Amino acid sequence: MNKIIISPSILSCDFVNIERDLKEFEGQENLWIHLDIMDGHFVPNLTFGIPIIKRISQVTNLPLDAHLMVTNPEFHLDEMKDFGLKNFTFHYEAVDKPVDLLKKIKDFGIYAGISIKPGTDVNVLTDEILKHSDLILLMSVEPGFGGQSFMPNSLDKAKVLVQKREQLGLKFQIQIDGGINDETGKLAVEAGVNNLVAGSYVFKAPERKFLDRVNSLRL
Ligand code: DX5
Ligand code: ZN
Repeated sequence: MNKIIISPSILSCDFVNIERDLKEFEGQENLWIHLDIMDGHFVPNLTFGIPIIKRISQVTNLPLDAHLMVTNPEFHLDEMKDFGLKNFTFHYEAVDKPVDLLKKIKDFGIYAGISIKPGTDVNVLTDEILKHSDLILLMSVEPGFGGQSFMPNSLDKAKVLVQKREQLGLKFQIQIDGGINDETGKLAVEAGVNNLVAGSYVFKAPERKFLDRVNSLRL
């Protein structure tokens, strides 16, 4: 199996049966669970927060990938630091001192991720930011809602990041989020992405065959 990580976004799962839906993925390798945390300020929509994530962390051993679409990610980090998260991604656009926050995340033993929105130039991610990042999340839709169409300009950003990673001798992952299906996922992997977030494509699978959809993203 190749090392592409698939991170199904529970934004599209059945919210009154999250535990049941997560069971479908237990035991799978290279599979994270993507948690879309929205605050109604950084993005218009609201999802779920600290108490729900705490419970999720208690009922699954799958690696949890938190995507903070909030204006105050540091507050949430302080609250969630002991939940055993694998990765914590905040938005570049939401903070003044991204390097400080990246360092703080890492100090808690959590992968440090930073994300940019579709309209944000990839070059805002300075060498200093890249050096302190374990993961760069490229948004391929405007953050806030599942089920939107893929924006291809994210592919050019991935190619730039692959080059910079090589030049700087770094190892950060490149994740993409929004409108990912078997076709767009393939384009993303060809552009150098190694971590695919997919919400509606996975959870809207006919007959709840979520794993078939996950596996189709690995081809
Ligand atoms: C959007 C979220 C995504 C969303 C993706 O703001 O960050 O993770 O769940 O949903 P799909 O895969 O349906 O575009
Ligand atoms: Zn997300």
